[in-house]
Amino acid sequence: MKIRDGRLKKAMDEEAAKFTSSVEFDKYIFESDVKCNIAHTLMLKEEKIVDEEIADKILEALFKLMDEGYDALNFNHADEDIHMAVEKYVINSVGMVGAGFMHTAKSRNDQVATDLRLSLRVKINEIQIAILEFIEGLVELAIEHKNTIFIGYTHLQHGQATTFGHHLMAYTHSLKRDYERLKDSYKRVNLNPLGSGALATTTFPINRELTTKLLGFDTYLENSMDGVSSRDFIVEVVSDLAILSSNLCKIAEELIMWSSYEFRLIEIADEFSSTSSIMPQKKNPDVAELVRGKSSIITGELMTILMILKGIPYTYNRDLQEINPHLWNVIENTEAILSITSKMTLSINFKKERGLELAYKNFATATDLADLMVKEKKIPFRIAHQIVGRIVNESNINNLNFNKITSEFVDKIAIKLTGKPLSLPDDLIKKALDPVQNVKSRNVIGGPAPEMVELSAENMREFLKKEYRNDLD
Ligand code: ARG
Repeated sequence: MKIRDGRLKKAMDEEAAKFTSSVEFDKYIFESDVKCNIAHTLMLKEEKIVDEEIADKILEALFKLMDEGYDALNFNHADEDIHMAVEKYVINSVGMVGAGFMHTAKSRNDQVATDLRLSLRVKINEIQIAILEFIEGLVELAIEHKNTIFIGYTHLQHGQATTFGHHLMAYTHSLKRDYERLKDSYKRVNLNPLGSGALATTTFPINRELTTKLLGFDTYLENSMDGVSSRDFIVEVVSDLAILSSNLCKIAEELIMWSSYEFRLIEIADEFSSTSSIMPQKKNPDVAELVRGKSSIITGELMTILMILKGIPYTYNRDLQEINPHLWNVIENTEAILSITSKMTLSINFKKERGLELAYKNFATATDLADLMVKEKKIPFRIAHQIVGRIVNESNINNLNFNKITSEFVDKIAIKLTGKPLSLPDDLIKKALDPVQNVKSRNVIGGPAPEMVELSAENMREFLKKEYRNDLD
């Protein structure tokens, strides 16, 4: 296609042509570009800006290209981008006399902005569905493990007893927010820049409502200068995905820890494990480690995109093109880590006896003993905290199992600290120190009691149902 010949005397230097070309990563917007051209041509026809007969020929070529797919395009290094390649295809099928009208009242500047939005919204929806499916699997697993005793950590030290089901439900809540964040960003992606032209619209009587409707956008971007130059919708979505990937990374990190010999809480399925080329005993969590590694790429790309954008004056500048490969890299990595984290997490084997063992072993029920003192004897929590802290110390020194301590033992310490015995009944102490009882009594909203986890799972199922339904509408 000879579009340079008017203004420029010489062909572009080969290296410069390669340097400026976006064809390599324009494959991500191929379908969107054809759709964009179809909508624009239909509008030109409808508004009688281009003769019906010519428009029909252009449309026929575009539909044929859509059918044949990306490989039908015949790229060479002089093609700056997909828009030129698509136009060349149409010219080759229809001839310059007809096809030359396709670019009337349109610029590659509004075209690429439109294509990016069209392709990105498809990807957002795909990622949203994958999140919902992961949540769905986690809810089922959480229900299975609503009675499975597990140790909850703070500072990576044993904190309080909980259940594995409760922990899994925590995952679902962060993923739900990831989903909702994308849903909200979608509103700012699904806006139509087509008709903005190069930067200041056109003198042709275009119909932006029509292209907006044809392309399924919610509405159009009102200012043409903003239309061609804004990429904040990309920053927003990539930020959402950076948050999502950091949430996924945390899950992967827990699987890595829990599967170590020191924790021995889970076993990752063989399908998601590797071994060592020298140490025959090894079962390594390579997949989870790569989730951890690859999630960093997304945050790195977010920084790159922000850096590219921050100093670009209005309106279109070619630097904007440089954002696109980073966006698609983010999308590919997010899809990969989301899918693999979901499969890997849903196929782990949780070792119930080990969960129970840890919950019994290391004073994880201490808070409940203090609570008992407050409830039964009305002593201030701070004093109770002090007494139980001392009990833990003494148990450690005397190598005494925390779960076996008696009222007499408690009183010895209470007298030392307060001058008075507490005289707590042995059976109440025993109950307070039992992690199974502990969990059952935390039956307030958000707590680990099995019925509370069930309630929370039910709410999550309702949310899933609603979102799946919306998706089908
Ligand atoms: N390949 C370009 C991009 O992705 C398309 C727009 C080119 N516009 C221009 N004025 N050179 O941004």
